[in-house]
Amino acid sequence: MSSPVETMRAVVASRPGGPDVLETVLRPRPVPGEGEILLRVEAAGVNRPDVLQRMGIYPPPPGASDVLGLEAAGFVVARGAKAERHAQGARVTALVPGGGYADYCVVHETIALPIPAGLTMVEAAAVPETYFTVWVNVFDRGALKSGETLLVHGGTSGIGTTAIVLAKAFGAKVVATAGSDERASRCEGLGADLGVNYRTDDFVGRTLAATNGRGADVVLDMIGGDYVARNYAAAAPDGRIVQIAFMQGQKATVDLRVIMQKRLIHTGSTLRSRSVAEKAAIADALMAKVWPLVESGNCRPIIDSVFPLAKVAEAHARIESADHVGKIVLTT
Ligand SMILES: NC(=O)c1ccc[n+]([C@@H]2O[C@H](COP(=O)([O-])OP(=O)(O)OC[C@H]3O[C@@H](n4cnc5c(N)ncnc54)[C@H](OP(=O)(O)O)[C@@H]3O)[C@@H](O)[C@H]2O)c1
Repeated sequence: MSSPVETMRAVVASRPGGPDVLETVLRPRPVPGEGEILLRVEAAGVNRPDVLQRMGIYPPPPGASDVLGLEAAGFVVARGAKAERHAQGARVTALVPGGGYADYCVVHETIALPIPAGLTMVEAAAVPETYFTVWVNVFDRGALKSGETLLVHGGTSGIGTTAIVLAKAFGAKVVATAGSDERASRCEGLGADLGVNYRTDDFVGRTLAATNGRGADVVLDMIGGDYVARNYAAAAPDGRIVQIAFMQGQKATVDLRVIMQKRLIHTGSTLRSRSVAEKAAIADALMAKVWPLVESGNCRPIIDSVFPLAKVAEAHARIESADHVGKIVLTT
């Protein structure tokens, strides 16, 4: 006689729409496959891509769970065949292709990392999505070095707060933009050398002034639209502009001469659709280069607020309000 399937709570979007379409349903507890581990989720991070998925404009990649959630922290409670990296009962935090907003989720063992000493489960759950993204785009593709200047837009966002904290930990100067004076000074409170209220101030002029006219060596941009030409204007010679989203628009008109005159590189990337092997390489780099900084207290995730899983709609309303600073986290 086969044993009954064990169930768990999981959050899905019943149809495209606002936070009210989020539904907590009962689903079979997933079973880890080869190289995978099963996590008992204690906390799960909320990210803007979850909002886009809920709206129906960012579907999960083929093979990924339709359950929302791109990151989760918890305990290893089962291991699939050949999964040996994390012991039963270990505390790990993981980047997941979907499925984080649930009591349990499966993840390949290579993209789960031991929770750095000193971090709570809530803090640990707030790390993977933004740390993987910032590492790849600012430090890998953008090649930010100590002593250089980073211009980051959306400075109070989950991504933006991580970019500020990590760039400072690696010895860079940081200019961050945000939507009010108060939010710009919150960026400075997190370590940014300059916070710019983009609604009342010109980030191009302020970045050039803050760098003796040289400009930013790396620009991390999630806005797109008319920011693209302005990013080129704010960039230093040999600057790198890294596109990770386009909240204002995916099309832009630019003067290509600026790219040639300043020898700019405009690149970008998206994390979710990358292969397990590519994500594992990022995880290894984080473990080697960033985990020691977290453990020594040089950088920490910035937590805005925490909601129980049952209040997931409130968590989404909060991220959409754009009143938050840092990460919003769900607890099971
Ligand atoms: N490519 C990748 O691999 C990757 C991975 C993760 C996330 N992302 C993208 O990175 C961005 C940030 O993600 P997150 O989770 O950190 O976001 P978040 O915490 O929700 O923050 C977004 C912030 O952007 C600012 N903003 C400026 N213009 C906006 C607009 N037109 N609409 C909404 N917000 C606007 C808002 O702050 P102010 O009001 O202060 O401006 C808002 O708080 C998102 O676009 C996300 O899709 C990309």
